Amino acid sequence: MLLQIKNLKVGYGNIEVVRGVDLNIDKGECVGLIGESGCGKTTVGLSITKLIPERRGITSGEILFEDRDILKLNPEELRNIRSKKISYVFQEPFSSLNPVFTIYEQIKESLEEKDNSDSQIAEILKSVGLEKIIGRKNVYPHELSGGMQQRAMIGMAVASKPSLVVLDEPTTALDVTIQRQILELIMELKNKMNLSILFISHDLRIVFSIADKIGIMYAGKIVEYGLKEKIISNPGHPYTMGLMDSIPSFEHRKKLFNAIGGKAPLFSDLPIGCKFYPRCKFRIDKCLEKEPELENVSSGHVSRCIRIKDMHYGVIKNK
Ligand SMILES: Nc1ncnc2c1ncn2[C@@H]1O[C@H](COP(=O)(O)OP(=O)(O)OP(=O)(O)O)[C@@H](O)[C@H]1O
Ligand code: SF4
Ligand SMILES: [Mg+2]
Repeated sequence: MLLQIKNLKVGYGNIEVVRGVDLNIDKGECVGLIGESGCGKTTVGLSITKLIPERRGITSGEILFEDRDILKLNPEELRNIRSKKISYVFQEPFSSLNPVFTIYEQIKESLEEKDNSDSQIAEILKSVGLEKIIGRKNVYPHELSGGMQQRAMIGMAVASKPSLVVLDEPTTALDVTIQRQILELIMELKNKMNLSILFISHDLRIVFSIADKIGIMYAGKIVEYGLKEKIISNPGHPYTMGLMDSIPSFEHRKKLFNAIGGKAPLFSDLPIGCKFYPRCKFRIDKCLEKEPELENVSSGHVSRCIRIKDMHYGVIKNK
């Protein structure tokens, strides 16, 4: 296993927003992390290389990367991991790129000195579909479209041949056709470089198109996790079913939610018992007793719902 996140808890100030997350990523695998805005996805992604503000910050857990706990590394070792082994691509390419340096300079910067020749830079530009810029050393970020800027960011992220790339909503700021092209590029690089990917998104359609495994997050915890095919064919949590019901291509399913009603709870005022209770169409009094643990739906597919045994494809069998 390349990355194992175990019982990760992270807070900002007095508020815990990641409340015990477990997540594994294998070599060459793409794991999608999905959930509504504010559920803690970015916080999980940033925690992997300890990029969390220190005040409170990561309060418990282990982040085993290539069998070493990242949370126990010294600053030098951590810098090494951040510059060579684990890289990030964020939503807004323009704010991630430095406006005062050329694309050439920024790609050069992300390469080790022994590898930063013009031909290496050209190789990277080619691999991310930016052939147009090859040899044009004076191109600045603002001269590129959003899609091209994101290609440049991806080029910088893979330049050091990392093992893991965390892509946090990498296509959210782009229009739909460009989104598709960027997703294709990510898949192509993943296969060519045997990259492991954590793909963070609030859009289940996008995650379904790219991920091998999916973790669905709600209010700071994973509520369902498993192989994409298993989740599509047999979603094991009412929240997942609600998310799936909002995707047009799943319209043939018996609709249970249309849209999920209500709002995600505030971390400062979480409901007792199951955190999805206030919005759940399947809730019963027992759901209030305690927060459910993850239980097997089938091998390698788990859900945090006490009624999973009653459900099949979103239909309650014995009420
Ligand atoms: N630096 C910070 N200081 C204080 N609170 C924060 C900080 N960053 C995030 N939060 C809070 O932590 C919670 C989780 O935020 P996070 O950004 O991880 O969620 P997310 O799932 O990535 O959301 P989005 O889909 O909007 O990007 C939110 O309630 C957010 O307001
Ligand atoms: S435990 Fe109860 S409230 Fe929570 S998701 Fe399952 S049925 Fe709904
Ligand atoms: Mg986020």
